[in-house]
Amino acid sequence: MNVGGSKEKPKKKKKPRKIMNPDDTIKNGPFSWRVETLLGSGGFGDVYKVYDEKNKAKHYALKTESEDGKKSMLRLKVEVKVFMTITEGRKTNPNGFKHFVEFVDRGKSEDLGCKFVVMSLVGPSLDDVRKKYGVTLNDRSTPYIVAIQSLEAVRDLHSVGFLHRDIKPANFAVGFGPTEPTVFMLDFGIGRSYLDPKTKQHRAPRKSVKFLGTLRYASRACIKGIDQGRKDDVECWIYMVFDIFDPEEGIVWKKVAGRDKITRAKEKFFEGKSKEAYKLVPYNLKTIVSYVDSLRFQSAPDYPFMINYLFTMSNQAGFPINDMNKGAWVGSLKNKKTGTGERTDKLSGSNDSDT
Ligand SMILES: Nc1ncnc2c1ncn2[C@@H]1O[C@H](COP(=O)(O)OP(=O)(O)OP(=O)(O)O)[C@@H](O)[C@H]1O
Ligand SMILES: [Mg+2]
Repeated sequence: MNVGGSKEKPKKKKKPRKIMNPDDTIKNGPFSWRVETLLGSGGFGDVYKVYDEKNKAKHYALKTESEDGKKSMLRLKVEVKVFMTITEGRKTNPNGFKHFVEFVDRGKSEDLGCKFVVMSLVGPSLDDVRKKYGVTLNDRSTPYIVAIQSLEAVRDLHSVGFLHRDIKPANFAVGFGPTEPTVFMLDFGIGRSYLDPKTKQHRAPRKSVKFLGTLRYASRACIKGIDQGRKDDVECWIYMVFDIFDPEEGIVWKKVAGRDKITRAKEKFFEGKSKEAYKLVPYNLKTIVSYVDSLRFQSAPDYPFMINYLFTMSNQAGFPINDMNKGAWVGSLKNKKTGTGERTDKLSGSNDSDT
C-alpha cells in the first residue's frame, strides 16, 4: 500500500526494520513460528513463510507490523478485526468466504518490536503471477474468471460490513496447493466498516478524509478526499479488471503522474472518452463501467448483475467459462522463473507505484 500518495511528499526517514532470518522463531502461546523465507515487504512490515515447530510440513504466512508509528499500529488491528469478522461469518455460512485466508494466530514480538498475524499461506499475488511468473492472465476465459472471483471477494467482504479500500492486483493472490484455482483477497490494513457500530445502518459520510491507498487504483472520490462507500471498492475493482484484461493499456493513466492528472484521466474514462482502454478489453464491459458510475455513496452494488454480465460476456467473446477452477495459472506456476513454484524473495505488493 502506498499511503498518502507518498511519491508527492518527501518521505520521513524511518529506522530500518529488523528483518528475520531463516530459522528465527517467534514463540506465542502454543505456537513456535519458525521462519523459512521472506515472502515480501510492505510499507510497515514484512510477510514471511513460516511453520509451527510441531508440524514442519504445514506452512503459513506471518505478517508483521513494526511498532514505530501510531498509524502503522492501526493497520494490523484493522486486519485482525476483518479476519475475526470473517471467521465469525463462517460459523453461520461454512461454505461462504472462500476467497479469504484462515486466521490462525496473532501476537507481539518484543525482540522485533512488532505485532504480527499468522494466516494460511496462499500463492503469488495476481501482480506477481503475471510479472514474476510470466503467466498471462488476459487470455481466453481467464480474465473473466479473475474478474468474477475477485468481485465475489468484494461482495463477501461488503456482506460483513467492511470496505477494503485498497483493491489492486498486488492485494489479490492465487491459492496454493489444493486451493490454487481460487483467487484470494489479501491485505485489510486500511479496511473500514461502513456500518454504524450501534445502529448497523450505513454510516453518514465524513466531511473530508485523508488519502490512503494506491493512486493508480484509487477511486475518484478517494483521491478527492471524499468518504468512500461500497461503490468505491467496485470502482477500484473495475480498474483492476481493465488492468487484467490489458496490462499495457487497460489503465490509460498508468504512465501519468500527479493526483489531479490521474483523477482527470479517471473522469474521462467514466465519461466514455478513453477509447484506447478498450483495445483489448471487450467493449461491452462499458455497461458495467456505466453502472458503477451510477452508484452513490450508500448504494448497495448489484453484484449478481455484474457477475452474470461477465459470464454472458465470456460466452459472447467465444470463451465461455466451463470451469471456474481452470484459470490459466492453475498448474503453470511450478517451474516458472524461480523453478520451484515459490515466489522470489521480494513480492510486488509494495512496488506497485502510485504514479
Ligand atoms: N497469506 C499469504 N500467503 C502468501 N503470501 C502473502 C500472504 N499475505 C500476503 N502475502 C504476500 O505479501 C504481499 C504483501 O502483503 P500485504 O499486501 O498483506 O501487506 P502490505 O504491508 O500491505 O504490503 P504492501 O504495502 O506491499 O501492499 C502480498 O502482495 C502477497 O503477495
Ligand atoms: Mg498490500
